[in-house]
Amino acid sequence: MGLFKGKKETMTIGVLTSGGDAPGMNAAVRAVVRTAVHAGAKVKGIRRGYSGLLEEDFVEMTTRSVADIIQRGGTILYTARCPEMMRPEGPEKAAAICRKNGIDALVVIGGDGSYRGALEISKHDINVIAIPGTIDLDVASSDYTIGFDTALNTAMDAIDRVRDTSASHERCSIIEVMGRKAGHIAMWCGIANGAEEILIPERYDYEEQAIIDRIAMRKKLGKKLHIIINAEGVGDSNGMAKRIEAATGLETRATIIGYIQRGGSPTCRDRVFASAMGAHAVDILLGGGSNRAVCFLNGEFTDMDLAEAIAMKKDIDTYLWDISRKLCR
Ligand code: F6P
Repeated sequence: MGLFKGKKETMTIGVLTSGGDAPGMNAAVRAVVRTAVHAGAKVKGIRRGYSGLLEEDFVEMTTRSVADIIQRGGTILYTARCPEMMRPEGPEKAAAICRKNGIDALVVIGGDGSYRGALEISKHDINVIAIPGTIDLDVASSDYTIGFDTALNTAMDAIDRVRDTSASHERCSIIEVMGRKAGHIAMWCGIANGAEEILIPERYDYEEQAIIDRIAMRKKLGKKLHIIINAEGVGDSNGMAKRIEAATGLETRATIIGYIQRGGSPTCRDRVFASAMGAHAVDILLGGGSNRAVCFLNGEFTDMDLAEAIAMKKDIDTYLWDISRKLCR
């Protein structure tokens, strides 16, 4: 019995994680391997993302090789950012290496840069399925990305701690969270941590004087603690702290949370959703689908054409943003 609408009896799937790591990537790898093995397919793990693919850094994966990883942060396959994939010869070479090693299909777990690499490889006749894996939530084709929930909870906890000391010292705190050019983490934390100000690249008008005026006004009304969540895409938290302190007379400190947001044991949501997405990717392949992006849209796990997924643009959730405006007082 043929396993897939291909040329061989047994499909071999390559799986890699690419770009910034995200908690839950291991759960997705585990689900890819176990769903594939359950259906009689073979899986090759590709270490260090596209860099490892171009260097043929492969490892045979079995049900046992993904034991005891669902709870672990990071990615057991390692990850990398691969400049060679940006050059025209990179994707062609990657596809040729897949063919040479009997890899019929690739499952790529990563963010939008990894998606673009996946699409380029698919143009050289290798079937690629992309799974959204990034703490930034900035993959337009999906309402959920692997790692966002864990990163949010880590950042929220860190901000609560800064808030405690800020309150004791009656200070203003600017806390910078990750997200590259997107403000999803900042907006969610801004709501969850009860911040007075949320600065995100999608909405910030760079009117710093307006922030200073609002802080001065709140200070006058007796407010002693001021929390500003600043997205990495806005940046300059240290400079901003100095300027706010000089203008308001209020002691102001900047905290850049940084990489702790990318590490740690995944939350339940990240483990379960990543597992569902990994299994879904393999189901697409077993069902004869090609060049698809796995998505979570309108409350359902689904998939869409990879090129269409990449062409989509994402804004922040305007409903949540409007709420955040009303609650920041
Ligand atoms: O995409 C995840 C992310 O952590 C972003 O939030 C951040 O801008 C970037 O990766 C940092 O990348 P690097 O690990 O290359 O410093």
